[in-house]
Amino acid sequence: MGELSGPELVAVVQRLAAAPERWAHLVRHDPQQRVYEELRRDADLAIWLICWMDDHDTGFHDHDLSSGAVAVVGGAVAEDRLLLGAPPVTREFAAGEAFHFSAADIHRVRHTGAAPAVTIHAYSPPLWRMGSYEILPGGELRRHALSYAEELRPLEGDEVLRPFGG
Ligand SMILES: [Fe+2]
Repeated sequence: MGELSGPELVAVVQRLAAAPERWAHLVRHDPQQRVYEELRRDADLAIWLICWMDDHDTGFHDHDLSSGAVAVVGGAVAEDRLLLGAPPVTREFAAGEAFHFSAADIHRVRHTGAAPAVTIHAYSPPLWRMGSYEILPGGELRRHALSYAEELRPLEGDEVLRPFGG
C-alpha cells in the first residue's frame, strides 16, 4: 500500500466513520483524560479511536514524519494552528466532518461543545515520534520529542504538556 496522502487518509477515516460496527463498542468517555483505542497498526497505517469530553486538549504538537486525518463521528472538536505573533487559526469540526494535516503542520486539537466527542484518526506512516510544544511565559516555544506511546500514559496533575490527539 505504501504511505497515504492527506486526502487518502481522509477517505480512510470517512470509510471507518460510516462503519460504526467496527468501533462503536469501544466508545467510552473518561472526564479525567482522552480515551484511546488502537483500531489498526501495520507498516503503512495506524488508526485510533479517541473519545473526548470536558475540554480535553492535546496542546500544540507535531507528528514528526506522519501525515494524518481525523473524522468526527460524535460531538465536536476544534483544531488550532499555531501562528507567530497572532492568535491561532481555529476551525471547528462536528460529527460528519473530517480534516487532514501534513507532517510539517503544528496543531492542537481540543474538545468543544457540550456533548462528548468521538473521533477517528489515521496516520501514515504510523505515528512513532511526536513533538510537543511548550509555550514559556515569555512566549518562547520549546519542542519536546515524545514517543507516541507516551501520550497513552495518564496525565499527572496539571501537566503543561498534553501531546497528541488530532
Ligand atoms: Fe495531532
